[in-house]
Amino acid sequence: MCGIFGYINFLVDKSRGEIIDTLLDGLQRLEYRGYDSAGIAVDGDNKGESIIVKCPGKVKVLRQKIADSDFDKNLVFDNHVGIAHTRWATHGQPMVQNCHPHRSDPTGEFVVVHNGIITNYAALRKLLLSKGFKFESETDTECIAKLFKHIYDSNLKEGFEVDFNELTKQVLYELEGSYGLLVKSVHYPGEACGTRKGSPLLVGVKTEKKLKVDFVDVEFPESNAESPLLQHGANGQDLGLLPVAPGDLRTSQSRAFLSEDNIPMPIEFFFSSDPASVIQHTKKVLFLEDDDIAHIYDGELHIHRASSKNAGESGVRPIQTLEMELNEIMKGPYKHFMQKEIFEQPDSAFNTMRGRIDFENFVVTLGGLKQWLTTIRRCRRIIMIACGTSYHSCLATRSIFEELTEIPVSVELASDFLDRKSPVFRDDTCVFVSQSGETADSILALQYCLERGALTVGIVNSVGSSMSRQTHCGVHINAGPEIGVASTKAYTSQYIALVMFALSLSNDSISRTPRHKEIIQGLQKIPEQIKEVLKLEEKIKDLCNSTLNEQKSLLLLGRGYQFATALEGALKIKEISYMHSEGVLAGELKHGVLALVDDKLPIIAFATRDSLFPKVMSAIEQVIARDGRPIVICNQGDAIVANDKVNTTLEVPQTVDCLQGLLNVIPLQLISYWLAVNRGIDVDFPRNLAKSVTVE
Ligand code: UD1
Ligand code: F6R
Repeated sequence: MCGIFGYINFLVDKSRGEIIDTLLDGLQRLEYRGYDSAGIAVDGDNKGESIIVKCPGKVKVLRQKIADSDFDKNLVFDNHVGIAHTRWATHGQPMVQNCHPHRSDPTGEFVVVHNGIITNYAALRKLLLSKGFKFESETDTECIAKLFKHIYDSNLKEGFEVDFNELTKQVLYELEGSYGLLVKSVHYPGEACGTRKGSPLLVGVKTEKKLKVDFVDVEFPESNAESPLLQHGANGQDLGLLPVAPGDLRTSQSRAFLSEDNIPMPIEFFFSSDPASVIQHTKKVLFLEDDDIAHIYDGELHIHRASSKNAGESGVRPIQTLEMELNEIMKGPYKHFMQKEIFEQPDSAFNTMRGRIDFENFVVTLGGLKQWLTTIRRCRRIIMIACGTSYHSCLATRSIFEELTEIPVSVELASDFLDRKSPVFRDDTCVFVSQSGETADSILALQYCLERGALTVGIVNSVGSSMSRQTHCGVHINAGPEIGVASTKAYTSQYIALVMFALSLSNDSISRTPRHKEIIQGLQKIPEQIKEVLKLEEKIKDLCNSTLNEQKSLLLLGRGYQFATALEGALKIKEISYMHSEGVLAGELKHGVLALVDDKLPIIAFATRDSLFPKVMSAIEQVIARDGRPIVICNQGDAIVANDKVNTTLEVPQTVDCLQGLLNVIPLQLISYWLAVNRGIDVDFPRNLAKSVTVE
């Protein structure tokens, strides 16, 4: 999805070429999120003026375009603002005019990059057209740049020179929708404003000297009054502009950025929508909250709010130290991030459990849920809400949740849940599962549940993400950054986190102790067993080169715990290899799907040992009776059917029934990967897909 990156240097000499490299490298780290165009804006030869270069295609195309441009790359700046963007088209095709950055006018007085969607853009566009602005693109973003100029000019006409952050506040009053936004201007050279609402944005800070304090004070206005500058106009009618007194001008200094002797210190700031693009420069980051305005000038970062402080609202934003390592987001010896992440699963699965399971005493402690368990145990029902792969991890663990907790559990796709306006009550517990923590449908569902007073729990990978912060409590799955668009290690870690959640909820029951022990012992062995399964890679590669090569369609049969595995396997194959595949509940075969079965259609069946094994075997027999030759995923040494009746078997170690899906899904991840590689597909960037789906 769209990505934002910004770089501001202060008292640190950088040539324009170096600044451009920093911006492009930042964008490259955002590539995994999926995008179709890229662009940057850097200062022109006069301070604050902008040179904008943008184009559809990958960052390397943009890099070439910049290399071919004849502006001076050697010019040195000791204070400079550069902004950059990767775009995933929502309003308007991927073409140069629609790429970001967008400008307020042909001279580029204000230049913006934006993630998210401005829902009232049509009304704003109408207003700005009536004021004589000429639009260059079909995007919603362009109206933000023009609104900046319009409001700036109106202030000026009234004789007011407003501060950049005050101007940003006034612009934000007019915007509806969601945004992560960065803006630079010829009127505020060396300054940048960044703000967010429903779209992630953070600021990285790099200094030689230690910061004085590891937080930034939030600056609230004196009164809660809306900006007197603008009168809100619905549907684009003229917004009457009234005179405004300049807001609280620079009255404060930011404590964190003062050196001992109060002399400004050399400093570099990085704005980004994703910590993965900042980590190579600095580990010190500040996550902005919704409606924060980060204003950077003279080597200081100030956080402003548009409305006065509410009781209980935090007056500071911590500068955190990221625990992520650069090598965690590099490919290492692997050809693709997806392959690296599949092979990381012994470690990521272990990290999900690290410090949380006492394997000697069979105790699970989830720090983020401890205080909430009693309340959750009393809830009327648990609703798990997620999208895509994360939804499958909910399906995979629903049964063990119900078995251990005896609380009814429903599993919902976030979009459908919202479409139905499903009833939610105060005594419901709503569990949101998400790798990114930024998926728009899931966030909207979260807000819906919060409004109805339900307790919300997040099972999230990205620390500092919107969902992790907006839920009442939760568990970080600690799988490490997932870069490949196809979710792999996040699935297995979500699965484990959900099982641990179910174990924690039921740890007050003596009668369940034996089952608890069995599951915890099973979990302990999972990382080693995943390593075993990964040894199947060569066999799977051959399979993808032979039986599965050139196929158009594939069925996956599973039942009970393995139905979720079948759905997840089918999704992986679809999204990465573009081959149609369908996960079918084995019990449903005879109700229609059997009509598809012949000696050609490839079928993969999950026949690992659990209570439903005999029933799965009967489905396999039905397939064989129709000349089908299924590929069977079974337990090691389990010669379930004669060799000539099946295409081949993929043998995986046996574990506890409710954990078997953790092992069974891995051959499918590998199959989808090798099918895609064989077809020459860019595995980490499958067509039409984005890593983090921040639009509805
Ligand atoms: C926390 C620390 C971890 C440290 C450990 C030591 C963080 C992020 N984690 O881990 O670095 O090693 O203590 O005891 O600082 N939360 C939500 N929603 C979510 C996810 C989490 O509200 O979707 C909340 C939790 O309720 C908790 C906090 O975020 O208050 C941290 O959660 P988590 O990282 O899972 O907690 P610990 O495992 O205790
Ligand atoms: C599939 C995949 C998607 C995501 C879905 C939800 O491989 O990655 O189906 O699982 O878009 O994303 P998160 O988990 O970030 O909410």
